[in-house]
Amino acid sequence: MSFLSDTLSRVKPSPTIAMTTKAQELKAAGKSVIGLSAGEPDFDTPDNIKEAAIAAIRAGKTKYTAPDGMPELKQAICAKFARENSLSYEPAQISVGTGGKQILINALMATLNPGDEVIIPAPFWVSYPDMVLLSGGEPKPLPCGPETGYKLTPEALEAAITPKTKWLIFNSPSNPTGAGYTWDELKKLTEVLLRHPHVWILTDDMYEHLVYDDFKFCTPAEVEPALYPRTLTMNGVSKAYAMTGWRIGYAGGPVELISAMRKIQSQTTSNPCTISQWASVEALNGTQDFIATNNIAFKRRRDLVVSMLNQAEGIDCPTPEGAFYVYPQIGGCLGKTSKGGKLLSTDEDFCNALLDETGVAVVFGAAFGLSPAVRVSYATSDEALKDACTRIGEFCAGLR
Ligand SMILES: Cc1ncc(COP(=O)(O)O)c(C=O)c1O
Repeated sequence: MSFLSDTLSRVKPSPTIAMTTKAQELKAAGKSVIGLSAGEPDFDTPDNIKEAAIAAIRAGKTKYTAPDGMPELKQAICAKFARENSLSYEPAQISVGTGGKQILINALMATLNPGDEVIIPAPFWVSYPDMVLLSGGEPKPLPCGPETGYKLTPEALEAAITPKTKWLIFNSPSNPTGAGYTWDELKKLTEVLLRHPHVWILTDDMYEHLVYDDFKFCTPAEVEPALYPRTLTMNGVSKAYAMTGWRIGYAGGPVELISAMRKIQSQTTSNPCTISQWASVEALNGTQDFIATNNIAFKRRRDLVVSMLNQAEGIDCPTPEGAFYVYPQIGGCLGKTSKGGKLLSTDEDFCNALLDETGVAVVFGAAFGLSPAVRVSYATSDEALKDACTRIGEFCAGLR
């Protein structure tokens, strides 16, 4: 009998972290490596937020808080939902966790029973299926290819719903594709959901603020208020405020679900870091000016990467609406052999050969449930991006 649990054998470690680790090892060994595999902004946390955390420490605000968040932060979150999403939540409907990740796992653990199905449009953020498995449910990936802009269509959603479907996980703009749903596109999905009252919506709005051109973000309960009683609206400070290491995520939803999530959190991690909560109050209530400034840089980098990758042989890169990822198709490179003598049969082969032979780290599409593609994160300097895309272009030109 194994010492380790059966549940553990159902999940795999995060492939994005594995790729980043491999890149770090090569770098430590002296190789010139450009990492485009990590999912975090390269910008620093804004000073006003850091100062709020320092002030909290100095004022002795260093003790436990309520398990799912202190009142000041819950108020700031309610105000944010009202101001930016036209959603009205009371503090009792708010849960604050250690990153968006904890909010998601709390919600799934609080609701899934064996056999319950969770629809996950693919490509998906790597953690969704494994979190569903850890919680005892059945992930049901639903392929959404480049022909629909990597977006779920109402027809595909309708066909995927079964009597066992408990949740749809919705993520716009998306990690890994950057695809964002317009109001009209989302409205059509909500019309399907209205016909299936047993399906709940877990919307991951983590990249809400990272949108470019004239794209307008919207969230399911805002687009269709009739879905509000069965929607968990999840968000966090990690991406928009460059606060990945502070570990604060939050959600608004029905009181019964929020209370169930609190029960789990109170018996696992208790409250998220008190100092980070004070920093997040400032993030949400303070100036938002740097978001627009950062987005100018992100948009410039997106355009640079899309244009350079589309010049590489065998790569086809759509222009996404948001986040800081692009998800180019690399089918034209497969079946060929690299200069280093590696036969590229899969997108994983492509990524490994690219890293070994050029030092550029990207993540293979199979990790996100849709091949053949790679995810390129452009949350790094323009110079590094130009260098990386040039190396990718040379790598593709060398394939035979
Ligand atoms: C789509 C998506 N949701 C949730 C998260 C988790 O965010 P956090 O770092 O706040 O746990 C991430 C982080 O990569 C993400 O990309």
